[in-house]
Formats: sequence, C-alpha cells, structure tokens
Amino acid sequence: MFKNDSVKVFAPATIANFSCGFDIIGFAIDDIGDTVEATIKSVNYKGNNNIIISNITGDDNVLSYDPLKNTAGITAKNFLKYLNINNIQIELKIKKNMPICSGLGSSAASAVAAIKAINYLLNTNVSYENMIPILMESEKVISGKNHADNVAPSLMGGITIIRSYNPLDIIPIKCPIKINCVIVYPLNLDLPTYYSRKILKDYYPLKDIVNQLGNLASLIVGLMKGDINIICKSMNDFIIEPARSLLIPGYNNIKKNAIDNGALGFSICGSGPSVFAIGIDNIKKIGQSIQKGFLKKNIKTKMLISNINNKGAKILVS
Ligand code: HSE
Repeated sequence: MFKNDSVKVFAPATIANFSCGFDIIGFAIDDIGDTVEATIKSVNYKGNNNIIISNITGDDNVLSYDPLKNTAGITAKNFLKYLNINNIQIELKIKKNMPICSGLGSSAASAVAAIKAINYLLNTNVSYENMIPILMESEKVISGKNHADNVAPSLMGGITIIRSYNPLDIIPIKCPIKINCVIVYPLNLDLPTYYSRKILKDYYPLKDIVNQLGNLASLIVGLMKGDINIICKSMNDFIIEPARSLLIPGYNNIKKNAIDNGALGFSICGSGPSVFAIGIDNIKKIGQSIQKGFLKKNIKTKMLISNINNKGAKILVS
C-alpha cells in the first residue's frame, strides 16, 4: 500500500515578486532550501498528534515544534485532512539550509518538502494543482495572507505566474536562457513577512498601477523570449519597493552600488530583507558591491550566485 516507511524531500528557496510582480510571480533558485524527512510511525493511530515534528536543525532554535505553528506541520496536518486519513501518524524531521525571515521563501520550502514527502509516502498522487491551496493555507497562518508565489515555484520549479487566486490558476513560464542572479541575504536582520505586508496600502495611484503593469507585461515578454535586456529593464516596482525599501537599511545606496558595478536589474527578494541582482558579467563583483553597501550599515551578509532552478522539490532518499 505504501511506497516506503520513510522519504526525504528537498524543496528549494524562491524569490517571489520578481520586482514588479507582487504576489503573482516567483521563481525557484539553486543550492539553498529545506529538507524534510517524513516517516510513517503508525498505521493504526488514534489521537490528535497525527503529525509529530521530532527534530529541526539549521534554524538557530527559532522554529516551533508545535505542528500547528510550523508550516511543515500545518501543511502535513491539512494534507492528511484533505486526504481524509485519520489513522496514520507521521513524524517529520526538518533540516533548514536557508535563512529564515529573509524573503527567500523559508516557510514555503518547509511546507513544500513536507507535502511532497507525504504524497510520496502514502502513494496518493495528488496533483500540484490540488496541493497548492493546502500549501497556501500555511502561508496564511505565518504571513497573514495565502499568497502562492513562493510555494508554487518551490514545488514546481522554474518561474510561475499566478494568473488568478480565485479560482486558482497557475501558469508556469519557460525561460529559454540562463539568468545569472546574485542573492545577498543579511545575517541577523529578520523581516517577518506579516510585518512587511502590514506596511502596504490597499490603494495606489492609477499612474503607479499603469507604470507597474507596463513593466510587468514587458517582464513576462522578456522572460518568454529569453531577452535579458527586456527582463532587466522591466525590473521597476512603483508600488511595493518604495515602501519596503525603507525597511532595509541603506537600500537606495545598495541598489546604486549594484547598478554602478554592472547589475542590469535589482530588487528585493520577496518581502525582504534579502536583495537580488541580475547581470551578464561580473556577477560576483556585483554581489560584493551589494555586500559592501550592507556593511556600511553594519549588516553582515552572505552572497549566493544562482540560476533559476527548473526542477523544484525533489525526492532525495526513499
Ligand atoms: N509576495 C509575498 C510578499 C512573498 O511579497 O509579501 C513573501 O515572500
């Protein structure tokens, strides 16, 4: 009936918004992400603790072991409910290999790894389309809004667009070129998503919306054509960046440094405080210039050079 007793799944970090696509576009990145090991503990279980989180590493002891307060646990519980399975107990071990509260989709990666692991273990073959609303519920508990622009690319890989939230309609885009990104994430500067969403307004001037839509439309054209110049010249955010950049010390100088050093596009990763730049040459030099900018504000950072990860969540060991 079950494929295995245990499985390990890796889910990648993601960059949501891609500058002007707030809540509707995101992409998965290479190298960093979370691993969740799911193990079936009992198949005759009766009780409320059907999901146990027994181990979390790489989180500096900040994440909760309570499955109702941890996105992997919330997702696992909701997934069993969706499957109408109430006699199985599953243990989760979470290994974080990415910064938390940094705008790189940390909560999403744990949730994605957990759902993919359980779907595999129980041999339930639930489609991505049906998993995403469950994943979005855990984002809502953590950030106050059930956005999908981290969970979708982490699960599916590549670049995804959310055409509509109600009904949910996710469209993957295939970009024919490699995009050289450098991501710089501050160490010891947390910015919880619920906070960086709280500062946003409900209404924006029409002229900003028109400018935003123009850039978003051309960003998508650039991504589909694989035209790096169109992609980068479209990375202008008239709505979200002006507010959120104020939460990132030295942001305007950091961005200027990056552009002076060859960045063709620059923006905040998701809800921040991490930032990313796209370039053709000297991507490391661009990253170092961003790091220097943060250091001027006494913020130590790490740099990661990455392409778009087209694979998404993957089974490691079963
Ligand atoms: N689209 C979400 C936001 C992503 O910007 O709040 C959170 O990482």
